[in-house]
Amino acid sequence: MSTFYDEEELDDEVDLKSGVLRRLLNLLKPYWLTVLLGILSIAVVSWLDAYFTVLNKRIIDEGIVARDMNAMVRLFWNYGMVILGQVVAFFVMMLSVGIQGERIRYDLRKKLFNHLQKLSLSYFSKTPIGWIMSRVTSDTEKMGDLLTWGIVDSMWALTNISFAIYFMLQLNTQLALIVILSLPLMVIVSFKFRVKIYYHYRKSRKANSKMTASLNENITGVRIVKALLREDQNLQDFKVLSTDMFRESYRAGFLSAIYLPTIQTISAISLVLILWRGGNMVGNSLLSVGTLQAFISYIMFILWPIQDLARVYAEMQNAIASSERVFSLLESQPGVRDRKNLIPVKSLVGDVEFENVSFHYEDDEPVIQNLSFHIPQGQKVALVGTTGGGKTTIVNLLCRFYEPTAGTIRIAGNDYLNYSLDDIQSRIGVVLQIPHLFSGTIRDNLRYGRLDASDEEIEHAAQLAGAHDFIVKFEKGYDSDVGEGGNQLSVGQKQLISIARALLANPDIFVMDEATSSVDTLTEALIQKGMRQLMTGRTSFIIAHRLSTIKSSDQIFVIEEGQIVESGSHKSLIRQRGVYYNLYTKQFRQDLETKLDPFAEAGAEANPA
Ligand SMILES: Nc1ncnc2c1ncn2[C@@H]1O[C@H](COP(=O)(O)OP(=O)(O)OP(=O)(O)O)[C@@H](O)[C@H]1O
Ligand SMILES: [Mg+2]
Repeated sequence: MSTFYDEEELDDEVDLKSGVLRRLLNLLKPYWLTVLLGILSIAVVSWLDAYFTVLNKRIIDEGIVARDMNAMVRLFWNYGMVILGQVVAFFVMMLSVGIQGERIRYDLRKKLFNHLQKLSLSYFSKTPIGWIMSRVTSDTEKMGDLLTWGIVDSMWALTNISFAIYFMLQLNTQLALIVILSLPLMVIVSFKFRVKIYYHYRKSRKANSKMTASLNENITGVRIVKALLREDQNLQDFKVLSTDMFRESYRAGFLSAIYLPTIQTISAISLVLILWRGGNMVGNSLLSVGTLQAFISYIMFILWPIQDLARVYAEMQNAIASSERVFSLLESQPGVRDRKNLIPVKSLVGDVEFENVSFHYEDDEPVIQNLSFHIPQGQKVALVGTTGGGKTTIVNLLCRFYEPTAGTIRIAGNDYLNYSLDDIQSRIGVVLQIPHLFSGTIRDNLRYGRLDASDEEIEHAAQLAGAHDFIVKFEKGYDSDVGEGGNQLSVGQKQLISIARALLANPDIFVMDEATSSVDTLTEALIQKGMRQLMTGRTSFIIAHRLSTIKSSDQIFVIEEGQIVESGSHKSLIRQRGVYYNLYTKQFRQDLETKLDPFAEAGAEANPA
């Protein structure tokens, strides 16, 4: 999936909006000194480049034709100085441009990363991860390229052409005019070709990434492909994709092949004109041989800068599109933000209250409607109900990952919009439905709960959570690597570590979204024990799928379609013989059947749902 986004998106209709260009140039502001240095050194290199031809002319006219040895020696000295000057200027240019490029990329990535951390969950649930990744990686790369090599190449090309024209006009106006008149034709043809070639090249790259993605899916899903006899259909799909790529690459290749000869033909025509006109003048002694030679060199010389300009122009469209996407990401505002005039709090110890809370995600489909409840400090609340009922959404609101679209949530007596996000989220400990660990050691992951925790405190928390025993069984104990996203650990182990991590943070409110995937009975008992530790003395919200785990809760809410349809203690709900009773007895019966049927468990393990 993500491979598809790694390549640039095709924005064919990018016009060079001045706004984007201005913002891009603004990025250069902090580095104006390096930029100035770069521009100066480019001008020097260009000037010396163009001056070479003049020196050659003088060597021919003043030295070779005039047979003057002294002039030759003097001019060779000049030659040496010019080369030295060029080496120095070139070094300065490369250095300043290189440094500037890296700094800009570094700045941009830092800015983007920082901004991404501030965005709310809603942004990430609607934006594909691959899209975000390529904004931070490949788009910043392209912006950096445009702001360094793009500028350097075009500056270099422009100064080269200007200095060449300047020297030609100095040498001979008539011949210079012939070259100058042929310039626009070369420029137009070059730009047209380059843009076309680049267009097909990008389309072929796009086709390539689609092909890679399809290949990836087919290889990783090879079992399903075989099981569903999809081979022929998939081959057909693949053929279409690879034909697309072939066609676009072919077009780019074909255009590239005729591009250079076309430009060379135009330049050859002006060369013939120069030779014809200049040759006549040399014959009539109106022009020196050296000057004629200089003009021939200049025609060859300006061929390259024109092509460079066209290339930069074609690539610039793409870099501008990248910049627009990066700027749009930087502009996106977090949906959940700190308000003004915040009430500073040290703790969130107190009651939790939902008053007529309603909420919907981006799609306007109401998920929570008019929800009200009051939880006294220290109570244990369990949320149960069928899947998709809105349990996770309720705790998302409580943690202020999202904010209610209507109604008020009060914690410790105040509307929680009056607290800072940091204050709220640092005082609520969350263990998620799908626990997430970061690459690194177990110790690192536990320390995420509280960065200044000592090793003793970490082990103590792990012991309370019941994670200590399995951790020390690893060869490296607390220093074992958990792998990317913790995938070297089982779900149950990850959950135990998440609980220990939450314990370490010592939150005022504890939220747990119980894993739906089943863990073995032993681990479940361990998790239960860890949870009990976490819940003591804290207001806790437990989303439970295994109802046996929440019998001792102070209150149980049955959530259906975003509303509390039943509430009360386990006993009173059972007595009511309503939804909870049905849920509970159904699960109870299933558990009983599993226990009585010795093959059921083995069967369930062999075919995990
Ligand atoms: N990020 C989202 N964007 C849009 N709709 C969402 C989003 N997350 C959840 N929903 C929708 O909100 C409703 C409630 O989802 P929620 O995750 O709160 O259910 P749940 O009770 O936790 O279910 P489960 O028991 O399966 O975890 C569902 O209809 C779901 O489709
Ligand atoms: Mg859920």
